[in-house]
Amino acid sequence: MLRFRSLEELGLTPSSLEPFISRKTMLVHHGVNYRNYVTRANELQREFGLSYDDPWELAMWCEQQPFRLQRADVLFNMAAQVFNHEFYWAGLSATPTEFHSRRLTALLKAAGGVRGLLDDVREAAKQVFGSGWVWIVYDAGALSVVTTANGDFPLNPVWTCDLWEHAYHCDYDGDRASYVTNTVTNLINWKIVKARLEVML
Ligand SMILES: [Fe+2]
Repeated sequence: MLRFRSLEELGLTPSSLEPFISRKTMLVHHGVNYRNYVTRANELQREFGLSYDDPWELAMWCEQQPFRLQRADVLFNMAAQVFNHEFYWAGLSATPTEFHSRRLTALLKAAGGVRGLLDDVREAAKQVFGSGWVWIVYDAGALSVVTTANGDFPLNPVWTCDLWEHAYHCDYDGDRASYVTNTVTNLINWKIVKARLEVML
């Protein structure tokens, strides 16, 4: 069964992203929203006779069901949201992170530099109508930016930012653009990005 992971397991504490993401937002987002996705996914797993402990693998199982039966669709969304949130938090740090990687440096340069890539993230996030996610992915030998709606996720992600209102409404009065700007400017954990990339190279 999927496990409810503590913030500490994901490398954070409730206050560690302040002042950009408040303790209050973290406690509700992690303790209520994320917990609900884990609980609901496991309830549905039981209905299907499944016991996956990896949210990505569970979501992939759902993808392979013929006709995407309605309940498998709901389960996909829950499993995907568990994966997305764990991936999101594990990729954040308010402590500046260094990376020493010729490969990542070269990929960033090819993507327009750190600034160019992060401008792309900000622009892409603006285009997402409603709930979704903005991602940096490694695809065809390059870094690029993609967005997904609701709980969907792309292949080969190396970083993501949650664009659901619950991620920023309380701290930014609904100003998603400022939340995304603060997140990409101050909270990307480049060590984790590098580690994720290395697995794919
Ligand atoms: Fe969220």
